[in-house]
Amino acid sequence: MSYEAFRGQQAGEHITVYRPEVVVLPSPEEVDQYAATHVLEQVTAKPNSVLTLPTGGTPRGMYELLVQAHRDHEVDFSQLIIFNLDEYWPIQRDHPSSYTRYMNEMFYSHVNIPPSQRFIPNGEAPDAAVEADLYETLFQAYGPPDLAVIGIGPGTTCHIGFNERGSAVDSRSRYMPLDPETRAANSQLFANPAEIPQGTITQGVADILEAHQIMLLAKGDTKAWGIQRALNGPIGPDAPASYLRYHPQVTFVLDKAAAQYLPGQ
Ligand code: PGA
Repeated sequence: MSYEAFRGQQAGEHITVYRPEVVVLPSPEEVDQYAATHVLEQVTAKPNSVLTLPTGGTPRGMYELLVQAHRDHEVDFSQLIIFNLDEYWPIQRDHPSSYTRYMNEMFYSHVNIPPSQRFIPNGEAPDAAVEADLYETLFQAYGPPDLAVIGIGPGTTCHIGFNERGSAVDSRSRYMPLDPETRAANSQLFANPAEIPQGTITQGVADILEAHQIMLLAKGDTKAWGIQRALNGPIGPDAPASYLRYHPQVTFVLDKAAAQYLPGQ
């Protein structure tokens, strides 16, 4: 279902709620393997795919496997168009904790995706709102993505991208201040935790829901509450990941720890 069809359903006061596919794997390494295999299948089936890709701790293993597949000549990434989910703002692009640097170090410096086909919000832009609008314009020009790979926020945030609690289902790319809980978790990834920026530029919930297919990755105890809340709690802005149940093609790929509060686990 396209996002337009979804909006049509909203207007008609009938919104279909779907049950995401849930894949529970014994270990975090198997989540990496599953995720990389799925991305490689997408790229093989459609070499000029548009992808939304995440950063953070969770997808590191996936990127390592994608780089390995490229080295082993299993796949050609040269026609891909990549949109990142988000970036801190303000932040220098070469800051060790920027997502621009993460993407360069984890992925782009090892594979053959031309720079003109890689998009991420500019943390150095003087005006975050102007930069977010520009990002949205580019996203609309190339989109919708064939596949969005996303994570979920820590603790009770249930964020997707940096769409923190309070985000609307029809939100688009914009400036978003960090939730205090996200701030506490992510500041640990800065050499000096006090250096974490106040805000971010993130794709909106509607941008994520517009992808033809969504794969959410989660590993570890700190994600367990959010996964259970997203899949089984009320759908709404208190838990942005719960909006994923409005999309017909979503897979949650979880290790056992992230799945521990799900019924039957
Ligand atoms: P993480 O971040 O992979 O570092 O846990 C995910 C997120 O905040 O969406």
